[in-house]
Amino acid sequence: MQTPAAPGLRDHWSSRLGFVLAAAGSAIGLGNLWKFPYITWENRGGAFVLVYLAAIAAVGLPIMIAEILIGRKTQKSVVGALEEALGPAWKVVGGLGVVTGWILLGYYTVVAGWTLSYLARCLRWSVSGYPLGHDPGAAFGALVADGPVQLVLSAAFMVLTVAVVYSGIGRGIERVSRVLMPALFAILVMLLVTALSMEGAGEALGFIFRPSFDELSWDGALEALGHSFFTLSLGMGAMITYGSYLSRGESVVRSAAWVVALDTLIAVAAAVIMFSVIFSVPGMADHVGRSTAGMLFISLPELFYTAVPFGSMLAPLFYLLVAFAALTSTISILEVTVSYWIDQRGGARKRASVLCGAGIFVITALCGLSLGAWGPLSDFTVFGQKAGLFATLDHLVANWLLPLGGLAITLGAGWFMTREATRAELADGTQPRWFRYGAWRFFIRFVSPVAVAAILLAVIFFGRDFS
Ligand code: PHE
Repeated sequence: MQTPAAPGLRDHWSSRLGFVLAAAGSAIGLGNLWKFPYITWENRGGAFVLVYLAAIAAVGLPIMIAEILIGRKTQKSVVGALEEALGPAWKVVGGLGVVTGWILLGYYTVVAGWTLSYLARCLRWSVSGYPLGHDPGAAFGALVADGPVQLVLSAAFMVLTVAVVYSGIGRGIERVSRVLMPALFAILVMLLVTALSMEGAGEALGFIFRPSFDELSWDGALEALGHSFFTLSLGMGAMITYGSYLSRGESVVRSAAWVVALDTLIAVAAAVIMFSVIFSVPGMADHVGRSTAGMLFISLPELFYTAVPFGSMLAPLFYLLVAFAALTSTISILEVTVSYWIDQRGGARKRASVLCGAGIFVITALCGLSLGAWGPLSDFTVFGQKAGLFATLDHLVANWLLPLGGLAITLGAGWFMTREATRAELADGTQPRWFRYGAWRFFIRFVSPVAVAAILLAVIFFGRDFS
């Protein structure tokens, strides 16, 4: 075992609020604003949302608690934390988390870059008018296939990410989250109020909240489950890492519950906003049907300018919100690698941030060029179905790496840590009154492993693809 890090030396969040804002910032991202609305759409709403909420409560929350617990207990980044809490062999799981972070940040930054482009476009359109009659699908297609533009956008986003992580936990990540997260909430409330005043709001709420179970497939249920990992930033040590900067006096359970609640609220709010707008325009629902993944970048911009009240003011704000959400997520992914470097290899934060950012950007650049700009990267197939590097990496992370990491963590916390060890962290006097340690232990030992194993089995034996 390694010597424990001197507590005085490790940077910490200034308070629980600081942690909650940073961790909610990690959780709330493109998963909420881009992925959740379109997979909800594809799975026809209601029943899918219900399964998603159940997955968040029964699997997401217990694993979130486990990750923060391991982080706070050991005060170490992912590799060291798993080694100290569970034993030397678990370093491998930590290593897997670091590798997953590299790959995930590699392609996530590409999409994050698009938000900058749409922010700029909307600012331009708000000033000089929306070019009615232009084809939004073709415009998006041209953007992703433009190699140099992809490189510039994703490089810009990577520089922003590195700049925050470079400045450290308190003065970098927490400070930025304290500004961006409240701004994000405020913009979202404005959008929500506007969307709910639109004609399609009723239909949207019905679509999202009225379950009809004959619409739900097993695949849909497993997709909801898999997405709960992605959206809560679980399965790769991001929450272990953020938890390691939590002071021992701060409650693991309360913090976890806040992060999970905020993430869920924002995902549902994003779906309500987008669907209200879509259902307000006659015929739009059928039109969107064909390009659901492009909802955020293809269907929505035009709708803002043609259908939404105060749309020309709200459109740039909306893409600003998406960019903020993406940034508070990318910094958490980079922090996993950087903190590993600092803790295990004794590097200095500034140097580690720049080098890790530069290293990951190699993957980002290749992903950015794999959407049409460069043939060999764009057209190959793996797993029989997906074409191109970007889609392949997304497939790998969402279907394999996050569930695998999540399975290891839930088994580790449930079966390899002793009851006394976990109890001492969770029932330490800081827990909320509703918390039952026995219930958590039951979920983490039995429910979560079975649920996560189901995802992996469906992927391995039935060739399912939930990315
Ligand atoms: N939770 C983030 C989102 O919803 C993505 C993410 C996954 C961030 C894993 C960190 C770690 O967009």
